[in-house]
Amino acid sequence: MYNSKIIGLGKYVPENVVTNDDLSKMMDTNDAWIQERTGIQERRWIKEGTDDTSATMGAKAARIAIERAGLTKDDIDFIVFATLSPDYYFPGCGVQIQDLLDMPTVGALDVRNQCSGFVYAISVADQFIKTGMYKNILVIGAEYHSNGLDKTTRGRGVSVIFGDGAGACVLTREEDNKKGILSTHLHSEGKYADKLVVASPSIKHWVPEIIEAGEEDISYYPYMDGTFVFKHAVVRFSEVIVEGLEKNGLQKEDIDMLIPHQANLRIAQFIQKKFRLSDDQIFNNIMKYGNTTAASVIIALTEAWEEGKIKTGDNVVLAAFGSGFTWGSVIIKWA
Ligand SMILES: CC(C)(COP(=O)(O)OP(=O)(O)OC[C@H]1O[C@@H](n2cnc3c(N)ncnc32)[C@H](O)[C@@H]1OP(=O)(O)O)[C@@H](O)C(=O)NCCC(=O)NCCS
Repeated sequence: MYNSKIIGLGKYVPENVVTNDDLSKMMDTNDAWIQERTGIQERRWIKEGTDDTSATMGAKAARIAIERAGLTKDDIDFIVFATLSPDYYFPGCGVQIQDLLDMPTVGALDVRNQCSGFVYAISVADQFIKTGMYKNILVIGAEYHSNGLDKTTRGRGVSVIFGDGAGACVLTREEDNKKGILSTHLHSEGKYADKLVVASPSIKHWVPEIIEAGEEDISYYPYMDGTFVFKHAVVRFSEVIVEGLEKNGLQKEDIDMLIPHQANLRIAQFIQKKFRLSDDQIFNNIMKYGNTTAASVIIALTEAWEEGKIKTGDNVVLAAFGSGFTWGSVIIKWA
């Protein structure tokens, strides 16, 4: 069995910055409420007329990751793409990456695990590398939320939180089993699926029925029971980080860098306090980008690395929680 390690990281966010004040012109909200509850100051929303989508943003991030890995697109053996906002209902975005990057006809797999999407995706890629089936895998997380949000006061509890963006990494084979990804831990609890959901269009409630229902039916907008999600998030984040540390004989103090999914700054601060981490041991960028769901962990990991906050030999922990519910962690000895 091999290990896998990250050898290239990239990110792409749309140019268009939407501040909290911009949102207050669309709906009844304000900067103080949003910052106090979520820590978010601004987010990126794709502007009409650009070519940005989950697939094209993912491709832009992927090109950077591949170049930084010192590889070419022809070296990539497999693609794993995580998103809840694909360009098409089907097929998924993975195949679009194969085309957009003009890659050989390698396999492409889409992961649908919302805010935990990137953690699940990297775990899947890790298994393929461990068994020796593939050597270099491109893993992408990308989201185009803004076109699907209810930007009226009715949707303010959800729409102020989410942002658009993409991140990517290249995983490669590592012969030393004490380096790279040491373990991944994945969980789900489907009984809470309806607590954070886009219910339609689904095959049981298809487009003509939604149109017929008219204004009454807004099941195509995201619904979130924010308080319920918050309570579960803080518990599951903590559990799954501890699970990963214990599996590898590590203590809280051994964490050099925790990259939590950027759901809400208050959740990250709760975790930071609970694990007694200094500001240097945790990375947050939700202030700038909001919650970019499957892109959030990989955008944050990329920025932390770009800012020189991750060094060879560091114990890096990725953790995520989200719709499903799904949650997971990844323990990495940075190599
Ligand atoms: C969404 C979240 C910020 C809401 O914060 P909250 O303290 O739970 O707020 P509530 O939803 O209880 O709403 C409190 C009040 O603020 C109002 N409100 C909601 N959104 C608002 C907004 N954007 N601006 C101003 N007021 C708003 C509500 O209408 C409510 O008013 P009321 O008391 O008159 O009914 C918070 O629940 C949260 O972050 N949850 C977790 C979200 C998350 O992590 N999601 C991603 C999972 S991966």
